[in-house]
Amino acid sequence: MIQADPNFVMGHVLKNGLDVLGTGRTTRLDQEFAKDLDRMVELSKSPSVTEREKNHVTAVKLWADGFSDAACQVWEDILVDCPLDILALKFAHDSYFYLGYSNQMRDGIGRILPFWKPTMPLYGYVIGMHSFGLEETNLYDRAEKAARKGLEINPRDAWSTHTLCHVMEMTGRQDEGISFLTDTVKNWTTCGMIACHNFWHWSLYYIEKADYQNALNIFDNEVKVRSINSGSLLDLVDACSLLYRLEMEGVDVGDRWNEVFERCRPHIDDHILAFNDLHLLMGCLGAKQKDITAKMMESIEQFVREGKGTNHDVTRDVGHKLCQSFVAYSDGDFAKAVDLLYPIRYNVIRIGGSHAQRDLVNLFLIQAAIKSQLKKHHKLARMLLMERKSFKDSAPMTDRLIKRAMALHAD
Ligand SMILES: [Fe+2]
Repeated sequence: MIQADPNFVMGHVLKNGLDVLGTGRTTRLDQEFAKDLDRMVELSKSPSVTEREKNHVTAVKLWADGFSDAACQVWEDILVDCPLDILALKFAHDSYFYLGYSNQMRDGIGRILPFWKPTMPLYGYVIGMHSFGLEETNLYDRAEKAARKGLEINPRDAWSTHTLCHVMEMTGRQDEGISFLTDTVKNWTTCGMIACHNFWHWSLYYIEKADYQNALNIFDNEVKVRSINSGSLLDLVDACSLLYRLEMEGVDVGDRWNEVFERCRPHIDDHILAFNDLHLLMGCLGAKQKDITAKMMESIEQFVREGKGTNHDVTRDVGHKLCQSFVAYSDGDFAKAVDLLYPIRYNVIRIGGSHAQRDLVNLFLIQAAIKSQLKKHHKLARMLLMERKSFKDSAPMTDRLIKRAMALHAD
């Protein structure tokens, strides 16, 4: 669009918006990107640009400058007037995901849904987005129904596929998840921004079942290849998450961290999302890069002191401590890791991502409590596992961890 008409402002909105939502570029550090944003803002001053287009420009600029929460407000204002504005809808939906705003992910779609008719183009995708909001607010039956409807309309809707991955993850239907993804892989494997993540979900079922070899195969054949080739943050967090989960399960992942780390390294000063920071830190810790880890922690501390915007507040309140906890664990100070994380565990949702993604943090806390030398932490580990079992019954990994925790000192 930009090539065809360099002055077409919505072309710039789409291009810059996708960069922003890819969470790998920020105007704070990237001068080229800052220039792109300035050019977009300049173009929007033309009298031929509509109010709605101007609002789109404002929203993307706000997000790029770090004010993602305020950007969502602008997209919501657009949607009050134009409930069929799919770009505002999708950008807000994705941003709510990054912010951990589960209710907004569901309600943001629910309130515009009556304006959409099944005959309209993209209708199926709107249903798919709604399904994910329903899933993230634990309404699994309704989420599954909506996702299957989305897939009935368009079997290649990778976001509806993704919702079903989550429903099966959260309800402990690992075998069904594996069959579903095996049967449908040709429908979603070409969907650039989400395919890697759907493979990540596939590997989670295997980890749950202690089928580590198949999980490693998915890493080697899909998640690694995609994350190294794209270098996109969305793919990189999947790679880091998968390796970290395998290591927590006691799997030797060999030298797999090294290549992933090289892709993480350029982003250690980004601080676009605390969620990304945590996963990039895993890349540093996994590759045993002590100096870079220390540099990254210093950079986070500086961001807490001097930064601004939505992610600054999240990092100050939650992200920084979370990262400190992971560093303590890596240093073998498991008690410190527990003491840093336990008091803030219910605030971890603020770093964003899905429940399934943040479950890594729940598992991390349990592992740290088991490995701690303190008996009170062993008791805590057992309680956290009871809590886990009460929420999701069909979970072989939980059962394995319970066995380990029960074998610790009982007094
Ligand atoms: Fe997911």
